[in-house]
Amino acid sequence: MAALLMILFAAALILLIVVVLVLVNIIIRKITRKVYLNLPPGSYGWPIVGETLEFLGAGLDGTPEKFIKDRKEKYKSPQVFKTSLMGEHMAVLCGTAGKEEVKVFPTIKSYTFELACRLFMSLEDPVQISNLASLFNIFLKGIISIHFNFPGTRFYNAKKATSAIKNQLEKIVRQRRAALEQNKMFNVPHKDLLSHLLVTPDENGKFMSESVIVNNILMLLFAGHDTSSVAITMVMKNLAQLPQIYDKVLREQNEIATSKGAGEFLQWEDIQKMRYSWNVVCEATRISPPVTGAFREALTDISYAGYHIPKGWKLYWSSSLTHGDPSLFEDPTNFDPSRFEGAGPAPFSYVPFGGGPRMCLGKEFARLEILIFLHNIVTRFRWDLVIPGEKIAYDPMPIPVEGLPIRLHSHSAHA
Ligand code: HEM
Repeated sequence: MAALLMILFAAALILLIVVVLVLVNIIIRKITRKVYLNLPPGSYGWPIVGETLEFLGAGLDGTPEKFIKDRKEKYKSPQVFKTSLMGEHMAVLCGTAGKEEVKVFPTIKSYTFELACRLFMSLEDPVQISNLASLFNIFLKGIISIHFNFPGTRFYNAKKATSAIKNQLEKIVRQRRAALEQNKMFNVPHKDLLSHLLVTPDENGKFMSESVIVNNILMLLFAGHDTSSVAITMVMKNLAQLPQIYDKVLREQNEIATSKGAGEFLQWEDIQKMRYSWNVVCEATRISPPVTGAFREALTDISYAGYHIPKGWKLYWSSSLTHGDPSLFEDPTNFDPSRFEGAGPAPFSYVPFGGGPRMCLGKEFARLEILIFLHNIVTRFRWDLVIPGEKIAYDPMPIPVEGLPIRLHSHSAHA
């Protein structure tokens, strides 16, 4: 009995020690936070309500800014003060707008993917779009990979992602077909690619099957996804490094911006005026072509440079090598948009979109999305690189390893 009591007493003592330790820990944390954290100046006001009444009162008096102005003066802190509003501790930021830091590549990827989803299928739901985007990223990683279909390999993951994308696209196609058949005219987007593929027959009056439509949309989403994102990323990188070229682009885009009324959209004629900007894009894609090369198959025996290439062999052509050939581009590593002025480079020497009958069919689409993006970013911001000289890795497209983080500086903050 005595032994049992001893054990119980020891257990209770241990429990008490643990509770005390936890409590002491919590109290010490609270004290040290109060003493050592460099919190902004200010007051939490009354218990619970804090300074809510003063805050709301200033608004009802028609001078909402008074609440902030009074405290800025009182605490002589131009950047930030603390308060308590609606039961919450709060830091009120009242300095100049901070410099915003963004990673260019992932941000632009979201832009180009969302744009394609909207234009091709009128998708609006951000959750659905980001779900598809995640699957596409897995699919893209497996495009150039060894065909090992084992769990965990890029190839296996890409195949699984492709089936999931196709399932989602099938659902979208079926819903649209049903809506078109039920003639829900007011709700159905008519001018997007999906409706066009569904309602347009070929020259024999035959309509595309569901799986052909799904494959077409999948192919376009794939072909236009990373390509345009890489092109925009490389343009942003070069403009950050070459301020005199940035200034010329800004001048051209500002001229176009000032010729428009407030809220007026860019028109086709405006795009035609962006000649210098397009030369900059061309030069960026010459030095870093998003598609560094492409594959072909010899349909017959061919002879090339004096050698025999048998029918059925695969062929690979490289745009990077052609673009870096000093016999075609003088001083090829130098970023010089003036190469594209006048007659421009010799035919088939500038080939980021390929050439011949299988040339990129999204070239004009890419031109529009890149130039419209450039117009909007340049007329609002300057930027500088967070990591100058960031390494570019080819996987298989040229992508800055850290995603090209930049600091954006709004023009209006300096106006
Ligand atoms: C800067 C952006 C882009 C670049 C650098 C680019 C580059 C290329 C290249 C090098 C090819 C292969 C050409 C060949 O094999 O000769 C190609 C094909 C293709 N691209 Fe693009 N592309 C871009 C944007 C787009 C966009 C936005 C779309 C769709 C909206 C698109 C759709 C296609 C399609 C469908 C093909 C296959 C054409 C065929 O085989 O007949 N591309 N692209």
